[in-house]
Amino acid sequence: MPVAVERPADPPQDTGIAAKGAALYMRHCSHCHGFNMVNPGTIAYDLRQFPHDNKARFLKSVTQGKNGRMPQWGDLLSRDEIEDIWAYVKTGGKQ
Ligand code: HEC
Repeated sequence: MPVAVERPADPPQDTGIAAKGAALYMRHCSHCHGFNMVNPGTIAYDLRQFPHDNKARFLKSVTQGKNGRMPQWGDLLSRDEIEDIWAYVKTGGKQ
């Protein structure tokens, strides 16, 4: 008789680590998107406004770039690193 295997709880959906994401952001993104994500929103997108319920759009825009102005990062950053930056973006720069 098969033994019921207890499934582990589903892993949390967001696995990124905001502190790591902050460091990556400073290195790769801040010169366009602003120190601590503060920018007038006129040159590059104001990431503090990015909808927190739209991770899919974040992943797509960061991986593939957008409108020829936002560079694509898919070859430079790993999926884990992009997850870390997402965790950071969700802090709104307040951490
Ligand atoms: C060379 C300047 C530059 C750099 C570096 C840059 N971005 Fe951007 N980013 C832009 C511009 C410009 C836009 C606005 C694109 C548009 O909507 O036309 C943008 C838009 C975005 C958006 C919004 C896309 C959407 O769906 O509307 C996200 C998210 C984003 N950037 C994340 C990042 C992250 C994360 C990094 C660092 C890994 C980064 N950007 C680095 C210039 C930059």
